Amino acid sequence: MKSATKNLIKVRRCPAIESELTVPGDKSISHRAILLSAISNGRCTITNCLEGEDCRSTASAMRQLGVAIETPEPGTVIVEGNRGIFQAPAGDIDCGNSGTTMRLMAGLLAPQEFRSRLTGDPSLSKRPMRRVIYPLEEMGARLFAEGALQCPPLVVEGSPLTGITYRLPVASAQVKSAVLLAGLFAKGQTTVIETTRSRDHTERMFEYFLIKFRREDVWDGTSPTRRKLKESRITVEGGQVPESRDFRVPGDISSAAFWLVAAAAKPGSRLLVKDVGLNPTRTGIIDVLIRMGACIREVVESSPHGEPAGTIDIKGCKLQGTVIDGAEIPNVIDEIPVIAVAAALAEGKTTIRDASELRVKETDRIAAVATNLRAMGVEVEEFPDGMEITGGKPLKGAKLQSFGDHRIAMAFAIAGMFATGETIIEDTACVQTSYPGFADTLKLIQKGKGIGRRTPVISSLESKSRRRKIGKP
Ligand code: S3P
Repeated sequence: MKSATKNLIKVRRCPAIESELTVPGDKSISHRAILLSAISNGRCTITNCLEGEDCRSTASAMRQLGVAIETPEPGTVIVEGNRGIFQAPAGDIDCGNSGTTMRLMAGLLAPQEFRSRLTGDPSLSKRPMRRVIYPLEEMGARLFAEGALQCPPLVVEGSPLTGITYRLPVASAQVKSAVLLAGLFAKGQTTVIETTRSRDHTERMFEYFLIKFRREDVWDGTSPTRRKLKESRITVEGGQVPESRDFRVPGDISSAAFWLVAAAAKPGSRLLVKDVGLNPTRTGIIDVLIRMGACIREVVESSPHGEPAGTIDIKGCKLQGTVIDGAEIPNVIDEIPVIAVAAALAEGKTTIRDASELRVKETDRIAAVATNLRAMGVEVEEFPDGMEITGGKPLKGAKLQSFGDHRIAMAFAIAGMFATGETIIEDTACVQTSYPGFADTLKLIQKGKGIGRRTPVISSLESKSRRRKIGKP
């Protein structure tokens, strides 16, 4: 058992950042790489796979189902795909803190010939599962949530599935992916319709693993610059087995987001984040920071295995408030806690709406952010689907709760870098969920040490870059 003091993060105000860093592998992509490899027709080697607790939960779930998985060195995972012919698990499958593990696993377990029971930690045990139960039942599966309000434990009685057409009632990549994964095992075609685009890692990985699928986008309006996505229909044919292939996971932009905000809000800072995923369904944080006045360039340098990756170059400025709502929300959903910190540091008001999904994440992130910002002296008005933050006043150091939520813990460590006195965040073991090594990087940055010196990548940026903000040199 770790001592309570080990689980504290202590932060003080720190100087401008001048640094170059990389972040661990993308969590969403790592989960999917493990799952698709496991149901493929052979050996797949995944590199730069996230070593966080959530992805360990996915790997251990697969091992329980008889999939051979080795980790010969940190970040490298070798998976022996068994074509999705799993063996019945000996006991419950523990998904830990990971909603992605439980929901995507539900899709893979629904067509199996055995019964399984998915459990989670106290936080996951409060998260809604109806969103996957409903469409999977429509496909012929039998699922039952033992908790109140259709929360885990989730029992899946495997049965033969038939393809359906399902319109997502909430923009959720987890639900979309659960239905598409189940669709691979179903009779006929499965179509998922989304009206707001959510992260598309599953679709990209289907393509990379040579699964035939179709995506049709329907637009409102004819002008290419003004048109708005009306709906996107993703169709997969049942009975396909992914072709085994090696896969490299790019760095996680949701982990990079903490340092992007830290650098963006400190005038005089210059930060390069390298080898980070730049999938357009995930780069909303860059657009938000640009609207807030930050000077940012992103350069896609490669698309290893279908996922664009590259460098983000950011300079610190005085930020100003903005509005974040509508179709942008799914693109920044995991970054909102740290965007709220940026809002507290910015001049004027920032309004976040249409984000009620934040209430059912690892904790109620609207309430958690509002509580912690208020403890630091920030004015926050809470709405059922968001908040309004009045920024610009100095932040006061405070003793804060993580609420057992990794992104809350890390977002408020960043707030502490701007606050007077000391900021202590309690109960931060949860950071291991998505970002092992966060505390070490924080220490180096706080000491003003570059994680790496700037390298000639700057000059390559000058020539290759797509300038994201015009005006500042
Ligand atoms: C994820 C999708 C999002 C996100 C979560 C990871 C995924 O959740 O918040 O951290 O990997 O598909 P929802 O599907 O609930 O929006």
